[in-house]
Amino acid sequence: MQKGLFITFEGADGCGKTTQLNLLAQYLEQNGYDVIKTREPGAKGLGEKFREILLNYDGDVSDRCESFLFLADRAQHVDMIIKPAVEKGKIVLCDRHTDSTLAYQGYGRGLDLKQINMLNNIATDGLKPDMTFVFDVDIETSNKRVGKEKDRMESAGDDFFTKVRNGYLQIAKMEPNRIKVIDSTRSIDEVFEDVKMYIKNALK
Ligand code: TMP
Repeated sequence: MQKGLFITFEGADGCGKTTQLNLLAQYLEQNGYDVIKTREPGAKGLGEKFREILLNYDGDVSDRCESFLFLADRAQHVDMIIKPAVEKGKIVLCDRHTDSTLAYQGYGRGLDLKQINMLNNIATDGLKPDMTFVFDVDIETSNKRVGKEKDRMESAGDDFFTKVRNGYLQIAKMEPNRIKVIDSTRSIDEVFEDVKMYIKNALK
């Protein structure tokens, strides 16, 4: 059986990645592809428990503990959901993955990037996305889209947002073949045109 595709959706909070993921899933299904939608943290099963802690716990969480929780969630997700689906030939659309830990815990919180790369490799057992979209937005657009009700991560402030955003742009520069940066201050339809263009190329 032919190996599937593993595509990740990344970007700072309020970038619109989940909307684009849903649109792409619909588009691919309409074109006869076998698609699964999933996310980090918060995939079906144990992932939901990790998400609850990571986004809603209201006490102090150390930066290293936070990183390990995201990584533990990822290991479970790769082993139980992503790898089996890719091996069955499915297209896996994943809302956040390794680049989130680099951008948020590395560039955002200031943890060592080399160590995060190494830990990401352990968590994924070496699996790499075939393609990654980084949806890039400015702080004003993000604030408008996130609104007033913020979770633990979204409450980290404007300075943190800027570090994360710049982190993503740095990561994208290092891996231009895998990572496609899309200007997501534009309308949903305009952004989706870009997504479709990249996908059509990848499916050729
Ligand atoms: P989201 O479902 O809106 O993407 O929320 C997930 C939040 O968790 C978001 O603020 C980014 C954050 N996050 C990290 O800080 N590190 C990670 O490794 C992952 C997967 C998410």
